[in-house]
Amino acid sequence: MKGLWISFEGGEGSGKTSLIEGLVKKLEERGLSYMVTREPGGVPLAERIRDVIMTRSETPMDPMTEAILFAASRRQHLVEKVLPGLEAGKIVLMDRYVDSSIVYQGYGRGLGMEKIRELNLFATEGHMPDLTFYLDLDPEEGLRRIHRNQREVNRLDEEGLDFHKKIREGYLILSKKEKRIHKLDASKSLEELTMEVWQIIKGLL
Ligand code: TYD
Repeated sequence: MKGLWISFEGGEGSGKTSLIEGLVKKLEERGLSYMVTREPGGVPLAERIRDVIMTRSETPMDPMTEAILFAASRRQHLVEKVLPGLEAGKIVLMDRYVDSSIVYQGYGRGLGMEKIRELNLFATEGHMPDLTFYLDLDPEEGLRRIHRNQREVNRLDEEGLDFHKKIREGYLILSKKEKRIHKLDASKSLEELTMEVWQIIKGLL
C-alpha cells in the first residue's frame, strides 16, 4: 500500500474531530494529498447499515448484532473508499476504526475484546492503520464537552457514565497491548495536541 493510514480513537467528547481538523491544515499548507474519513464515510451502502445501528427500534438491539453490523459497514467503507485512497498514495485520516469495536462492543458491551478483534480481522481481511492515536480523557470531562457544544446526541451517547468509564478502561488496556496505538493526553490544549501529533506524522512522511 502506497499511502499512510492513521486512525484516531477515543471516548465521547475526546476531541478527535477537532484534532483531525488541525492536522488537515498542516497537510494543506504542505500541499500533501490526503483524505479525511469516518465510517460510514458517505458510502451509501455503509450509511444504510449504520442507520440501522443508530436508530432506536421496537426491541433492543442484540449486542452481537450491533457488532456484526459495525463490521459490515466498516468493510464496505474500507473497500469502497479507504483502500482506493491508500492505493492512490493519500494520507488517510480516519475517525474511528476497528479499535472502536474492540473497545465499545468487545469491552463495553462485554462481548470479549478478542472475539470482536477476530470478527473485525475477518471483515477487514487484516487491513489495519499504520498508526493510531488514542485521545485519553476523563469521561466526565468528555461528556461535559459534548453538552457544552450541544453536539447531536446519538443512541450510544446516551449510555450512563459507568459505560463511558468502561470505554476508557478498554482503550487503556488496548493501547498498552498494541504498539501501533499512541496514547495522547486529551486534556491538553488542541494546539499542543496538534503539534505533538504533527511531529510524529512528519517523521513518517
Ligand atoms: P460517531 O458517530 O463516530 O461519534 P463520535 O463523535 O463519538 O466519534 O460514533 C457514534 C458512536 O458509535 C460512538 O459512541 C462510538 C460508537 N461506535 C461503536 O460502538 N463501535 C464502533 O465500531 C464504532 C465505529 C463506533
